[in-house]
Amino acid sequence: MAVIDIQGIGKWYPGRRRTVALEGVDLRLAEGAILGLLGPNGAGKTTLIKILSGLLVPDTGRGTVLGYDLMRQARHIRAAVSLVAPTADVGIDNNLTVRQNLVFWAPVYGLFGEIARRRIDELLARLGLEGKADAWPMHISAGQRQRLALARSLLAENALVFLDEPTNKLDAEGIRSVRQLITDLNARHGVTVVLTTHVMEEAEELCSEIMFLAQGRVRRHLPTDEVLRSLGLVRPIRLALDSREAADFTPPDPRTLRGAERVAWGPGDIRGRVLLTVWSRDTVATTPELIEWVLHQGYRLAGMETERVTLEDVFATLSGAEGVH
Ligand SMILES: Nc1ncnc2c1ncn2[C@@H]1O[C@H](COP(=O)(O)OP(=O)(O)OP(=O)(O)O)[C@@H](O)[C@H]1O
Ligand SMILES: [Mg+2]
Repeated sequence: MAVIDIQGIGKWYPGRRRTVALEGVDLRLAEGAILGLLGPNGAGKTTLIKILSGLLVPDTGRGTVLGYDLMRQARHIRAAVSLVAPTADVGIDNNLTVRQNLVFWAPVYGLFGEIARRRIDELLARLGLEGKADAWPMHISAGQRQRLALARSLLAENALVFLDEPTNKLDAEGIRSVRQLITDLNARHGVTVVLTTHVMEEAEELCSEIMFLAQGRVRRHLPTDEVLRSLGLVRPIRLALDSREAADFTPPDPRTLRGAERVAWGPGDIRGRVLLTVWSRDTVATTPELIEWVLHQGYRLAGMETERVTLEDVFATLSGAEGVH
């Protein structure tokens, strides 16, 4: 069963000028996935997360989350999923210390006594909050409040977790520990994760699949490695080869290398050395085949550099005019 299965979801916000936040969004997400929801400011990411976590009812479409109906069982959805919103202060009581906040919420999530205490200690440690356990929420930094909000929502140990910009406001150490926590939740406990981020490198590192939204519509939804190939962006692989005589050099036929488009070559600074550039729309596939060709030809590889397509490139293309159909 798909954890999330929605079709044709639309949402607009009323106002003098009606804002269409989402239009015709379909999404099927299997258990154990980490979905990266990406897109420029105002694309509709937070709106979609609110709908999927039962906080907002869509205006059009239908579907289920964890088997519950999006339109009629939002209350059940809210109880069964965890959500960390960018306004991380929601749910933090300023009259309770950091630890007391978690102690207060534990029974709400069915955690009692020793089990609750251990879980709270573990989350405080994993999020680097041990030193602030007895501090008041007003006296900790914005990033520490974000960590507390994360700890609170992870107390629940739900099978589906929504993280809206979870590493926003965090320092380098905080970012590392939150990324590790997400990976562990997924790998060890099989938790399905939907996250948004504006850090493309983070999405590439964490997510098994990527959904790009722009102006409320889905532009792409593919496994992460496929999304990188999906635009057919061409990048160079540059090789320095020691050949006995540069003048005799015969470059590879690009048609024999998977993903290769064209080749260019010329003599290097050092006598007998050839600089070969292979332009590829799938550097991951081309590189090993190219190395095999080099070895087969009996050349010595003196250097190699690959420029790969990153999510940053895909994002730039899909967020710009080209991505809008
Ligand atoms: N409560 C609201 N009332 C009116 N319009 C809203 C409301 N919330 C969002 N919008 C509008 O809906 C659209 C989608 O907003 P949303 O917050 O879902 O975008 P987002 O992708 O999360 O952006 P960001 O990257 O900035 O967080 C935007 O045009 C936004 O201005
Ligand atoms: Mg948002």
